[in-house]
Amino acid sequence: MAVFVVVFLMSLGICICTALLKWNEVRYRKKGLPPGTMGWPLFGQTTDFLKEGPNFMLNQRARYGGFFKTHILGCPTIVSMDPEVNRYILLNEGKGLVPGYPQSMLDILGKNNIAAVHGSAHKKFRGAFLSITNPTMIKDHLLLTIDEFMKSHLSNWDGKIIDIQEKTKEMALLSSLKQIAGDDADLVREAFKPEFQKLVLGTISLPINIPGTNYHIGLQARKNIIKIWAKVLQKRHNSSSTYQDMLDFLIKSEDPKYKLNDEEIIDQIITILYSGFETVSTTSMMAAKYLHDHPRALQELREEHLAIRKEKGSEDPITWNEYKSMRFTRAVIFETSRLATVVNGVLRKTTQEMELNGYVIPEGWRIYVYTREINYDPILYPEPFTFNPWRWMDKSLESHNYFLAFGGGGRLCPGKEFGIAEISTFLHYFVTRYRWEEVGGDELIKFPRVTAPNGLHIRVSTY
Ligand code: HEM
Repeated sequence: MAVFVVVFLMSLGICICTALLKWNEVRYRKKGLPPGTMGWPLFGQTTDFLKEGPNFMLNQRARYGGFFKTHILGCPTIVSMDPEVNRYILLNEGKGLVPGYPQSMLDILGKNNIAAVHGSAHKKFRGAFLSITNPTMIKDHLLLTIDEFMKSHLSNWDGKIIDIQEKTKEMALLSSLKQIAGDDADLVREAFKPEFQKLVLGTISLPINIPGTNYHIGLQARKNIIKIWAKVLQKRHNSSSTYQDMLDFLIKSEDPKYKLNDEEIIDQIITILYSGFETVSTTSMMAAKYLHDHPRALQELREEHLAIRKEKGSEDPITWNEYKSMRFTRAVIFETSRLATVVNGVLRKTTQEMELNGYVIPEGWRIYVYTREINYDPILYPEPFTFNPWRWMDKSLESHNYFLAFGGGGRLCPGKEFGIAEISTFLHYFVTRYRWEEVGGDELIKFPRVTAPNGLHIRVSTY
């Protein structure tokens, strides 16, 4: 009897599951949509996507082609793995393909965050952003501060076992803080750090605003961060001194097109710190990892930097021309971001029903411009799973149409050159001062984010 009950319940379970899956497919069966499966009601295929990672995308592509529908992370989504279509999407925001980042991220980063706006507001914030991160700014102001910071951050590592993940995270955050607020960064640093960590966690959580959730904690952190920066701004408004930092340039901007009020300035500060945090830290950590595993590349990089050091005193900062001469360093950075795929893709959403790649995409659907696989295309990158920085010595590869590690079109990363300057300077002091070996045994996860869950420990000694 018991056997019959179990068999009956199992059959009933299977019938309910099949019906739910079918119902969800029918619900989204609209004429003109691309092929694909929608999975379970509400959850869609999120579990498979997170569990299988890049293989989920590859399997779906094998079944449906490089442009398919699915339901992930709470939204009906079109995944585009087609290089031509990806480029088209990034270049055609004006046609109704605006950023489609999750609600929690938009709420916590603020309504003036670049990723939350489009049209004229985007133009204004992007212009203001570029006015403080462009190459002239780096050359005339930022490089010296970056150099000063890295010199001090990379001191006293000799003879220690350090977690390079923790150190590069600290580096990315504190270096940007210094660029933004100069000496005032030292006043806010300790109060800011824990709030920033909560803010980051909140942006990748479900938007459930009840006490105890990461989203709620993230919103609280945002409020505290606003208070911290409002005080700094007040101090600057009451001061007649000139400061050579990003904040001063934003406050005193003469260009009416990019003039920001205090609320907008604080959201720009949050944007700079947030956007440059994981990207710069992970690329730096992975560069240290790949260089450790590839002694020939490390040797060539070290030679480039020792040649620069040879011409100067041990405390002399890197000059602009020396920075621009770091060709192999730039190649290492590009190869690291390609091979590690720090950014898997970018998100857009449709503001109206629209035709795309021969299909009709309903309004409000998310589009995942999934660029990861192009990094491993053997035609573009022979032996794609080998760390080979030399391939980037041919500069034309950097401006290749399909290389989208820094995005493309009107949203091409405005912090790209600033981030590269930070990573290059970090590598300069790292390889000229130290040699290192991995302690071993640390796990490295590559998806959905590149991270070492328990840190990446290295034993450091003076070079
Ligand atoms: C290795 C370092 C970096 C990588 C790989 C990277 C990657 C990207 C990518 C792929 C996008 C496109 C996003 C989209 O189209 O939706 C982007 C945009 C952006 N990045 Fe970066 N980034 C890096 C460093 C930085 C730094 C250091 C900053 C800040 C100083 C920054 C600020 C931004 C901002 C504000 C946007 C949005 C631009 C817009 O919507 O117009 N990034 N980045």
